[in-house]
Amino acid sequence: MSGSASQTSAPLLSVSFEGLDAAKPVSDPALDRIAAYLTDRFGLTFADHAQVNLARVAAAAAKQFGFGSLANLALQIESPEAERAAVPWLIRELTVGETYFFRVSEQFAALREIVAPDVARNCVSTGQALVRAWSAGCASGEEAYSIGIALAETLPGFQISVLGTDINRSFLARAEKAEYSTWSLRGVSESDRERYFDWPTPASASLKPELRRLARFGYLNLNDACFPDLLTGTAGLDVIFCRNVFIYHDTQRVAQLAQQLSTCLRDGGYLFFGPSDPVPAQLPGMKPVACAASMVFQRTGAESERPKPPSKAVAKSRLIEKRAPLPARPPRRPEPTSVPAAPPAFRKADIAERALSLANRGDLSGAQDLAEEWLAKDATDAPACHLLALIHKEKRNPRLAMRYVRRAVYLDPNFALAHYEMAELLAAENRRAQALGCFENALALLERLDADAVLAGSTEIRAGWLTRVIRTRMKSLDETSELEELAP
Ligand SMILES: C[S@@+](CC[C@H](N)C(=O)[O-])C[C@H]1O[C@@H](n2cnc3c(N)ncnc32)[C@H](O)[C@@H]1O
Repeated sequence: MSGSASQTSAPLLSVSFEGLDAAKPVSDPALDRIAAYLTDRFGLTFADHAQVNLARVAAAAAKQFGFGSLANLALQIESPEAERAAVPWLIRELTVGETYFFRVSEQFAALREIVAPDVARNCVSTGQALVRAWSAGCASGEEAYSIGIALAETLPGFQISVLGTDINRSFLARAEKAEYSTWSLRGVSESDRERYFDWPTPASASLKPELRRLARFGYLNLNDACFPDLLTGTAGLDVIFCRNVFIYHDTQRVAQLAQQLSTCLRDGGYLFFGPSDPVPAQLPGMKPVACAASMVFQRTGAESERPKPPSKAVAKSRLIEKRAPLPARPPRRPEPTSVPAAPPAFRKADIAERALSLANRGDLSGAQDLAEEWLAKDATDAPACHLLALIHKEKRNPRLAMRYVRRAVYLDPNFALAHYEMAELLAAENRRAQALGCFENALALLERLDADAVLAGSTEIRAGWLTRVIRTRMKSLDETSELEELAP
């Protein structure tokens, strides 16, 4: 058994799931509670026919993870015990990962012919050679790799970095493995099958190593307030695909999520939805792009139309994570006087704010320059080191990212986000024991905070969210090492 839960004295509901009529909705308060939790936390909704599947899967989870009954699982569904094992398992069983390479070929044609040249112009104008994309709800990775391949082929000379995220951890593990059946390749021509894949057997395709490097994968729940944020790699992006994810979501949430996704783009960046996603025809600050399959939008950058971004102040990492208001800028320069004026005071908060704002708009090089200036003025500033670590991580320079994050932790041992970031970098190097130690440190610090406290070094990240993410990450690291121990 991979999880357990303490028993409660709640009355057990005797629900039998054998012989369920697939046409009839299941009515059970425990099931309703589990369904409500899954809707609230992940946006998953269950129409009548899906309720039967939910009933079967939830009953199996209650048994498998030691809850004894559906009623007990329902009562404890928000407990850390349930969120560690039973909930990921429910997600694994209840999400549908239908996807394939170059799905909706018209949209990939638009990516190559309209989007890529425009993104290249944008990059050149800001002196950057890094193109960043996000496949939100990537399932087993086909979409993320397709974006990476299309961009790499059309933009030689640019560095391509695609982030793939999902809530289903077994899909993410498959994405990282990058091994596919021919069914996933049904949108790929014969000649491209040879170019992109190695073929250990005629029925199994293994993506070529140089193409694997185009994408990286991680857990991200689109229902959490964790984007846009550099910490989650979701700020200032050039391209976002979020297709066929909203089919699970309540239509009321879709417009809100679509708008939130649009704020993750740099000015001029592009957002793709699935052709049948229930997304509003108009989004603030976005204009539609002519594409045969439609549902492609571009961020206009018009200040007046842009949805309000979260405040970007950086607070010093302290356990009371309230932000001090930024000092107001002087309305204008003082008139010169005959007495030489003292040099202007160093406004660290201003530099910090500008650095974060540039990073969030995708200008990583500009943000790096400012963060280095900030650090040069105050070599003991942990948030400056943390921001530099995030920038180098986004630029795919893990060695430098590690150097800065270590310095952040050294300068401020109470900096929860820095411990977390260090754990992620160690995990990426397969240094599991050390990664788990850093996750533990971060958890210990987070326990001292209110779940709703906004963490220092971030714009919107809350202590409760990071706690859940860390628990999930620790569980998946444990599982990986268990699998490796079992391997011959
Ligand atoms: C049908 S697949 C789409 C895959 C790919 N985007 C495509 O269009 O081919 C939908 C994916 O969305 C994921 N998903 C559902 N709700 C999500 C959420 N709240 N946050 C992130 N991913 C979610 C599911 O786990 C599933 O992998």
